[in-house]
Amino acid sequence: MLNWNAILAPYAQVVDELKVKLRGMRSQYEYDSRQSPIEFVTGRVKPIPSILEKMRKRNIPFDQIENELQDIAGVRVVCQFVDDIYTVVNMLKCRKDFEIIEEKDYISRKKESGYRSYHMIINYPVETINGEKKLLAEIQIRTLAMNFWATNEHSLNYKYEGQIPTNIKNRLKRAAEAAFRLDEEMSKIRHEIHEAQVIFNNKRENNNNSQEKKSI
Ligand code: GTP
Ligand code: MG
Repeated sequence: MLNWNAILAPYAQVVDELKVKLRGMRSQYEYDSRQSPIEFVTGRVKPIPSILEKMRKRNIPFDQIENELQDIAGVRVVCQFVDDIYTVVNMLKCRKDFEIIEEKDYISRKKESGYRSYHMIINYPVETINGEKKLLAEIQIRTLAMNFWATNEHSLNYKYEGQIPTNIKNRLKRAAEAAFRLDEEMSKIRHEIHEAQVIFNNKRENNNNSQEKKSI
């Protein structure tokens, strides 16, 4: 009997550590009163049925899952603007706490489905009770619009078990183009948006300060 909990525990550790580190980047921007390129970060360990399914599809034996399954540990970084994605990518490239194994830019080259995102496969050293273990993890970096599209497409794929009807597929492709145009339009007015957000944050801070003064 395979002890899945024991196999997946270090991956859960990788996901947790990466979430803390990437969310930490966001907080540092906030302390600095600078606009963060990171909107939010999520992460998950691939569910066991999905691992088994992928092993079956790709003919991967149990003793090869560590090398062959690159997305058992997965984190997602969601940004407001397309430029932010490359800011995050460049920051990740400067880090010394993991090694980047592979990069896939599905933004400049979208997938056939219409999918857009930037992917990084990293080798992440995690401390276990048996010493250091290096595990693969996938980081997906995308905008809010790309995330909206991918989440909906993923649900439809699940519903249709990977066989989305052609008319819906075509609609999804059009939706992907619309999402891309939304990103382009927002990029053009990003400075306006940033200024508005700074004004809003200052106002909120002033309000909080005056509330605090009242309660002293
Ligand atoms: P898998 O797609 O995971 O089997 O591996 P791969 O080697 O083909 O890598 P790829 O970079 O294509 O995909 C990795 C992950 O990106 C997937 O597990 C999904 O989370 C996401 N992804 C890739 N293509 C699509 C897509 O067309 N739609 C959606 N919603 N997500 C996708
Ligand atoms: Mg794929």
